[in-house]
Amino acid sequence: MRYARMPIEVESPEEYGYARIRWNLSESSVADQKLSDLGLTIPDLTLLYGEHRGRIRLRELIAAEGQGLSADDVLVTTGAAGALFIIATSLLSADDHLVVIRPNYATNLETPKAIGCAVTHVDLAFEDGFRLDPERIVAAITPRTRLVSVTCPHNPTGVMLSRAELDALVAITARAGCRLLVDETYRDLSFDAPLPVAAGLSEHVISVASLSKAYGVPGIRIGWLVSRDPALREVFLAASEQISICGSVMDEWVAEQVMQRRGQILPPRLAQMHARLGRVSAWIEGEPLLEWVKPSGGVVCFPRMTSEPPGGTEGFYRRLLEDHGAYVGPGHWFERPDSYFRLGYGWPTDRELDAGLAAISAALRG
Ligand SMILES: Cc1ncc(COP(=O)(O)O)c(C=O)c1O
Repeated sequence: MRYARMPIEVESPEEYGYARIRWNLSESSVADQKLSDLGLTIPDLTLLYGEHRGRIRLRELIAAEGQGLSADDVLVTTGAAGALFIIATSLLSADDHLVVIRPNYATNLETPKAIGCAVTHVDLAFEDGFRLDPERIVAAITPRTRLVSVTCPHNPTGVMLSRAELDALVAITARAGCRLLVDETYRDLSFDAPLPVAAGLSEHVISVASLSKAYGVPGIRIGWLVSRDPALREVFLAASEQISICGSVMDEWVAEQVMQRRGQILPPRLAQMHARLGRVSAWIEGEPLLEWVKPSGGVVCFPRMTSEPPGGTEGFYRRLLEDHGAYVGPGHWFERPDSYFRLGYGWPTDRELDAGLAAISAALRG
């Protein structure tokens, strides 16, 4: 493995310093929650080594989200990031080939790079509404392809696959004899009915998700992977045991409580995010210096500039932060030009969001 730090992490607000940012529109989750916001007090837990696959009740709650899944199909991991790492390092070696969509959450691109496998990127284009044509996956698959990796709802565009597109990907990868990874980290933030948990559709499909984004608890570092293939699950468990033996007893306890309250937490949150999206929509449609593809899930969108700002994109990002105190995720976080940026509308308050949007408009003008 050849590790390199990813720009999205080097330049993340927590590394840069939250206190130095006034209007933070760079986040990809809803607002961070306190234990008290969730009505939780940590009990007197025994700090033992927990079940290696993750606390059974937590896994049952996760499995209940999909069709035909049981707790045995679930492995609790250190965030979705941990799940993605386990999957990439378990399935890919330098002799293998991966097909992955781009832009994408950076780990989906970077870990395969660190492994040194052959990679074909299927680039999603603004002009196509960032939609994935499954035929492009067919064209990218080679006899050495072991894994096809997609993300839905997508980060950074917020675009979703249709059910027909997901089914096509399942069929294409089955025919090719490779695995399909669906990163479903934003699934609970689908504005229309969510797609099924993909791992429930076939044994060769792996789903990944976490509590970080929809529930605002990235600090408990709880995610999971789901696979109905028992042999593959053993490999994933072996990887997980070599990394950390088991997860954190405290984190898993909190995660279980959050999952149990899912039915109360999600509906108001989705309504709130829908309203937020309305605010962004009204702003961007009156902003001639930007264009976008309206998202249908998640809490981010990926607008692009319609003309070069004064001082170029560098000047724009500098003014935005230094003069206006606002922060967004520049395109290079996602291996795209900096004329695109990721705007997160779920994390700030309404007032902060409005101030951040006004700051973007001002910084675009110089
Ligand atoms: C698509 C996607 N997958 C996975 C992750 C990792 O999230 P976590 O490890 O906090 O669950 C992120 C975080 O931004 C993401 O956007």
